[in-house]
Amino acid sequence: GQAGIAATPPMGWNSWNHFAGHVTDADVRAAADELVSTGMRDAGYVYVNVDDTWQGKRDADGVLHPNDRFPDMKALGDYIHSKGLKFGIYSSPGAKTCGGYEGSLGHEAQDAKMYAAWGVDFLKYDLCSFQDNMHKAEAEHPDDPNAANALMVAAYKKMGDALKATGRPIVYSLCQYGVDQPWKWGPGLGANMWRTTDDINDTYGRMIAIGFSQAGLAKYAGPGHWNDPDMLEVGNGGMTEDEYKTHMSLWVLLAAPLLAGNDLTKMSEADKSILMNKEAIAIDQDALGKQGDRLYESGDLDVWTKPLSGGRVAVGLFNRSWSVRDVSVDLEKIGFKGNAKVWNVWQGKDMGRRSGVYTSRIPKHGVTLLVVSK
Ligand code: DGJ
Repeated sequence: GQAGIAATPPMGWNSWNHFAGHVTDADVRAAADELVSTGMRDAGYVYVNVDDTWQGKRDADGVLHPNDRFPDMKALGDYIHSKGLKFGIYSSPGAKTCGGYEGSLGHEAQDAKMYAAWGVDFLKYDLCSFQDNMHKAEAEHPDDPNAANALMVAAYKKMGDALKATGRPIVYSLCQYGVDQPWKWGPGLGANMWRTTDDINDTYGRMIAIGFSQAGLAKYAGPGHWNDPDMLEVGNGGMTEDEYKTHMSLWVLLAAPLLAGNDLTKMSEADKSILMNKEAIAIDQDALGKQGDRLYESGDLDVWTKPLSGGRVAVGLFNRSWSVRDVSVDLEKIGFKGNAKVWNVWQGKDMGRRSGVYTSRIPKHGVTLLVVSK
């Protein structure tokens, strides 16, 4: 990627999870306003990302215009920037986006220049109808099992090169649902993050299926290039408070990009306290830039750790069962011989100096998130 961008996992808001195909310019401006008034911007959420369905038609010169829900993209970008925020946009390497809107196929350099002229700081590039091109390549090259994936990688490289050529630092976010292990080739073509799975939705089942499937990917993440287990659902109403804490805890342990996906104009105090917990965010944004991984799993109980700067370690004790359970971690096994300081993040509480096995009683679908230090 370009030097200096996405040194820590990008944070912000994206329109899709709540507004989907109905998003308007007014919704995006309202989200920008709320990022400021709620304190989210100052907590680190700076990208304001318009997802699919902003596009209109291309004119005779191939210039893509927004549709009538987005009167003026440059003005929208200026508004977002005037609030001390950054502007994100969305396209596809295919002819059509997943929503059936105009993609960038054959217009990559032209679109990239236009984004730069609008002041765009972030591009999410969503595979969508490019899958048709891949199926065609597969049919045309029956003897080459790699033909479809090679075509896809080339398409992502094309836009990566086009973004670089603009000279503007633009976070490049690949969205191709983990096809062909993007963590292996994404960084080489300038990607700053790449989706590792298919879409999240606002259910506990889907959220944990994604989150706990990320074991083993830690070594592919680092400053400038991150695994992306998809955007946050906190505040969308489909999970309990404990489940949303589990969601946020997993994502920060995974050093995931934190893109809120809720309606920021309608947040409960609980939503705000989950999204803006300073210590949880600090785990995600830690300067070491190391993704966490599974320490051990035993049935519905699961323990994950993430190395932090200063010799500290973040620990997530998870209870996926339907009843209250005790979950333990041996502090010696995570590098703390003798006693260690234990801080409980969601309780905001110093648990004192502890040694040996540390046990926490956890409600169903809940989590205890700790920071352990010398
Ligand atoms: C699929 C992506 O994975 C979603 O995050 C969203 O961008 C939709 N496409 C938009 O059509």
